[in-house]
Formats: sequence, structure tokens, C-alpha cells
Amino acid sequence: MANSQSGDSMVQRIVRILESFDGARTNQTPSEIARRTGLPVSSTHRIVGELVTSGLLEREEQGSVRIGLKLWELTTRGSRALGLRQLAMPFMADVQREIREHTQLAVLDEHEVLFIERLSDRDSGANITKVAGRLPIHASSSGLVLLAHSDPALQEAVLAAPLKPVSAETITDPRLLRDKLHEIRRIGYAFAPGSIESVSTGIAVPVKDPFGGVVAALSVVLPRGSEQEPTTVRVLKQAAAGITQAIRDSNFISH
Ligand code: PHB
Repeated sequence: MANSQSGDSMVQRIVRILESFDGARTNQTPSEIARRTGLPVSSTHRIVGELVTSGLLEREEQGSVRIGLKLWELTTRGSRALGLRQLAMPFMADVQREIREHTQLAVLDEHEVLFIERLSDRDSGANITKVAGRLPIHASSSGLVLLAHSDPALQEAVLAAPLKPVSAETITDPRLLRDKLHEIRRIGYAFAPGSIESVSTGIAVPVKDPFGGVVAALSVVLPRGSEQEPTTVRVLKQAAAGITQAIRDSNFISH
């Protein structure tokens, strides 16, 4: 693959262009992309044009482009997230019917929590989680559950790095975080009041594969003060057990 003057391969330049689209920037002009990626304007225009021709980007009005449906189709079709999501959906719907707030399914990806599905009620309270959105591993209830059951090397790396607060109540002291992870393993769920937003509480349980490995976190986000912790945890644990059984029945291997 031909390299540019900066030493980037064509694939690296394409990846930089695609990664410049995020939750806050879904539409960009080629000039904006060039500015954000640091790629030369002329080659950005050319590569963007080719990505539009191939359907990976789509042209919008006023010269801007967005991620094309074809890219969504290709990535969704083959991803391990889709299989897990499909197996989990009926059980997420059960949680949603009983709790009537927000129900999320999340996986660990590169030291962050990636949300692969979210169900909400019309009258649900605040929730910043987005499908295909990420939250810090040490702050969200899903992240805490995934971290508590992750490789000890990842836990040590997270505990050693600065723990940035998302809200005033995010755990930022590594000793307190270590205790919290221990508690999560002991009681089987994470209870995170105000850790992301002062007005809401996240409650999450691990979703295990049939061999006991944790493949995802199932969580609800509730208005602070309305948690009904024992009932919510029972509903979540029942749904997580159902997902494990569905994984076993389908022979689905997530990694
Ligand atoms: C959580 O999982 O702890 C969580 C996520 C999103 C929110 C609030 C809490 O908006």
C-alpha cells in the first residue's frame, strides 16, 4: 500500500478519516475532516470522494459527508456485538417491562465501555448512554462490573492511571475503587449512584458465557432515589442468567 509523505499508509489515512466522525460530529465537510485529521486537503478530498463512490461515506447537503449506511451494514453484519445483542434482546425486553426505565447492554473495548444496545421508556429519566457510545470504565455501573471481572493486568493499569471524574461522585481514589471492585465481585452487581450524573443511579450485573467468562454487562439507569435495589438486582440477575442460557443454546462464541 502506497505511503503518503507523512509515512501513513492509505489504510491508516482512511481509518483517520472514518474515526474523525464521532457522536458530536456526524456530518463534516472534507475541509473540516482535513483540519481534524491533519491530512493534506487535496488527498482528503480525493479519499473522501472515493469513499463516497464506494458507499462507505454518503454525501449530504452543502458539501458535507456522513458515515454511509453500507459501512453500518458491513460492520453490523459481521460483528460479535450483533450476535450477543440478538440473543440478549428478549431478556432486555423483560427487564424493560418490569423496571420501565433504561436497560443497556455493554461490552469492554480497549479499556472503555462500549454500549451495543439500549431500550428506554417514553417517560424514562436522564441517561447519557448512546448505542455505539462509550463511557469510562471506572465511572459507569457497566464499566465497574466489566472491570471487576477483567484481567488483573487491566485492573492494575486502570488503578494506576489518573481516574478522571465524570461527576462529583465518580470514584477517583484508587484505594476506594479497589474496594468497590472487590464488593462488586462479592455481591454480584455494581451499584453506582451519581457516578455519571448526580440525578441517576446505574445498576449493572455481569453477563457470563456458559464457561463463566464475563462477556458483557447488563444495566439499568434509574432516577436517583427510585432504585428499589433488591428487586432491580433480582430482575437483572434473572435476565443475565437467561442470556447465558441463550448463549449456551445457540453455541454462540463471543470471542
Ligand atoms: C451508569 O451505568 O452508571 C450510568 C450510565 C448512564 C447514566 C447514568 C448512569 O446517564
